[in-house]
Amino acid sequence: MTGDATRAVHGPAPREVRQPPLVPPVYRSATFVFDSAQQTADVFAGREEGWSYSRTDNPTAQAFADAVALLEDPTEVAVGQPFASGMAAICSTLLALCDAGSHVVAPREVYGGTWSLLTRQLARFGVETTFVDGTDVDAVRAALRPETAVLWGEVLANPTMSVADLPGLAQVARDAGIPFAVDATFASPVVCRPLEHGVDLVLHSATKYLGGHSDVTGGVVVGAAALVDRVRTVRIDTGGALAPDEAALLSRGLTTLPLRMVRQCATANTVAAALAAHPRVVRVDHPSLPSHRDHALAQRLFAPGLYGAVVTVTPSGGRAAGMALVDGLQLVKRATSLGGVVSKAVHVATTTHLSMDDESLAAAGIDPGAVRVSIGLEDPEDLVEDLTRALDGL
Ligand SMILES: Cc1ncc(COP(=O)(O)O)c(C=O)c1O
Repeated sequence: MTGDATRAVHGPAPREVRQPPLVPPVYRSATFVFDSAQQTADVFAGREEGWSYSRTDNPTAQAFADAVALLEDPTEVAVGQPFASGMAAICSTLLALCDAGSHVVAPREVYGGTWSLLTRQLARFGVETTFVDGTDVDAVRAALRPETAVLWGEVLANPTMSVADLPGLAQVARDAGIPFAVDATFASPVVCRPLEHGVDLVLHSATKYLGGHSDVTGGVVVGAAALVDRVRTVRIDTGGALAPDEAALLSRGLTTLPLRMVRQCATANTVAAALAAHPRVVRVDHPSLPSHRDHALAQRLFAPGLYGAVVTVTPSGGRAAGMALVDGLQLVKRATSLGGVVSKAVHVATTTHLSMDDESLAAAGIDPGAVRVSIGLEDPEDLVEDLTRALDGL
């Protein structure tokens, strides 16, 4: 190497690192170098394992998905695939499972982005969706058609925190011979491991609890290799790859997931109980409360004492009171998303459920005054104080 440009581009030979690093390096490379044309051909043809191009597979991104798979399935049978966002994971999954003319059954309370994907995008390609009460197993069964290609579910629904009867719904899917895919974002594998209840594919917006710090967007799908591989193919074809730097942040977040989740859920239980006792509150949605419709089901499906860390509180006074409650908060941030270490609150009807009028909200069991609070890692008494002060001020 004699020219400056060549030396600048190629640099010196990399130093050898004999010991394994404690933390895996970030493979911030779009492409990988082969020893020979033959090896290149073998890796491209799948005859030899290897890394070729980071939209296809990247070691740092894959390490994150592998780590999630291990949490979802400690028996190490399930495999994971990483995605650029939760929606990329959901989109790739639905595209993998549906053809033109397919039918999907999904819960009425399904996450807004999934609803939009199904009704605004996939509908244009001839995929029709029936939305039903996802907690009513009989209604779900009745909605199936011969062309139903996938049963969609959510472990915990937003913002009512209703719990899906995973074993019951899995049986419905099994009887119909179709896959049961579940968005487990609100639960995380610390609260619930859906694969153990008969679910075929588990999906997460890793942006939430898995990452845990509100500083990265990502998604993941976990399940049996044959199904997950079909989803991977769509990810490759649609470009939904998770970037290596984002993956490294997600992997770091994942190391503290169990600690964070246990603490956030315990705080949520405390906050839910305190809010339920406040005179201005007409309703609190959190499955830790015996008054929650799905309390018993949650006890059956979830890790002991954990019910998720989102608490939805409805003050008396409707829409205006909900907005005033959010405005009265000093510690809890007015911000969307959930799962991070900082607590956040949104007025449901004017944010996450903006597209629904009061009538549709009522049909979905959501009060126009509902405020969704994502409980973070602050001291529980500080959160109770902040929310109580805001309620007192209404
Ligand atoms: C339940 C649920 N699923 C999926 C998503 C989409 O995830 P992302 O924003 O990472 O695409 C979200 C985002 O809020 C969500 O709450």
